Amino acid sequence: MAFRTIIEPFRIHSVEPLRLTTEAERRAAITRSGYNLFALDAGDVLIDFLTDSGTGAMSRDQWAAIQHGDESYAGSPSWHRFADAVRELFPFRHVIPTHQGRAAEKILFSAVGGPGRAIPNNPHFDTTRANVEFTGAEAVDLVIEEGRRPQLEHPFKGNMDLEALERFLEERAGSVPLVMVTITNNSGGGQPVSLENLRGVRELCDRFGVPLCLDACRFAENAWFVKQREPGQAERSIPDIVREMASYADGMTMSAKKDPLGNIGGWLALDDDELAERCRTMLILTEGFPTYGGLAGRDLEAVAQGLKEVVEEDYLRYRIRSTAYLGEALDRAGIPVVLPIGGHAVFIDARRLLGHIAPLEYPGQALAVALYREGAVRSCEIGTVMFGRRADGSEEPAAMDLVRLAIPRRTFTQSQIDYVIEVVAYVAAHAAELRGFRITPEPPQLRHFPAAFAPL
Ligand code: F0G
Repeated sequence: MAFRTIIEPFRIHSVEPLRLTTEAERRAAITRSGYNLFALDAGDVLIDFLTDSGTGAMSRDQWAAIQHGDESYAGSPSWHRFADAVRELFPFRHVIPTHQGRAAEKILFSAVGGPGRAIPNNPHFDTTRANVEFTGAEAVDLVIEEGRRPQLEHPFKGNMDLEALERFLEERAGSVPLVMVTITNNSGGGQPVSLENLRGVRELCDRFGVPLCLDACRFAENAWFVKQREPGQAERSIPDIVREMASYADGMTMSAKKDPLGNIGGWLALDDDELAERCRTMLILTEGFPTYGGLAGRDLEAVAQGLKEVVEEDYLRYRIRSTAYLGEALDRAGIPVVLPIGGHAVFIDARRLLGHIAPLEYPGQALAVALYREGAVRSCEIGTVMFGRRADGSEEPAAMDLVRLAIPRRTFTQSQIDYVIEVVAYVAAHAAELRGFRITPEPPQLRHFPAAFAPL
């Protein structure tokens, strides 16, 4: 290509207005919300980087597919289009539709979890950990050592630590119902897992007779990194790489709100007939009949079409490059970010940027609040607030204190990203003025959603 600028490979088709706010309005809004960004009204936010989950823009063809939604209770043609689109990439025997990813997790871990059991992951995301722990089982994080060091460059920082997994299985295989691998590993920085590493996990699972389950929310972004970074993969198509990733697993949990480009949806897929039967029974109790599972026919259609669009290379090139554009600009400005830049988000190392705030005073929360107050940018703490509370109620610093700027798919333009770069640089320049927080009442699980904070 003669030109360097990587453009958004789409035009804007309908627009949503954004409201500008004053600093006084934002101060009032963040105080009202108990300094918890989840409690803000979205109308008070300018650039909403809270999550990339369900917040992307659907395509013309997805909206058109929605018109084909067939709302029959059982055996709808929309269900068949959904199941075929899933199996085209993930050819598991059983596809069990759910309303979103955590419903798939809830069903799976209700079936295989329980006290005394342990589930390794690379690492767990918040809902996965919470669903494991809710059954009384233990959620164990076994990402490679490089994956815990924000500034260290490594092409596959999401890889599972195979030696640690081997040791773990030697001691505990009898109590491990399955091994999970998250592609890409959201809470570790949106970092990919290599095919080689997946193969290694598979070998260990075979040796110890334990099934392997993918948490595949960002599978297409993972496959793009494999194509770019893993020796010998450059000439392969994305669907081909995805099918190889799937071939190492016995099943998957999925949120269709991420790479499948849906605003809602998910699924659980399994090869094991008996386990699938138990999960389907649970599905009927909690989600719906097995051919819609908590989704409308139109949602199934949107996801089926999204699965075709997300593996297109023009899309993925733009997606990964535009995330890197934000991250590299922050890195150049001297702001510590997780390197290399991940797929769906840029993660700022708040523990390093705000070295004067102790982890148990939540540097990530302090940074996230400041980004909102100064620039109406909403981000998400991924650190001690999210992961610091242990199952026994005690508290300790999380492995890292990060602030995630998660980028909704196909939604923001480069000028909006440039604005975010300015806001983050401004806040970083005034970092020494920021103070920590203490947490006021907190529930036992997933405290970061309802908690309130008080400035120290
Ligand atoms: N697994 C991973 C790796 C996730 O990132 C998420 C959601 C889930 C499972 C659960 O899926 O939301 O459809 O129930 N992550 C969102 C986020 C919420 O902001 O990263 P869900």
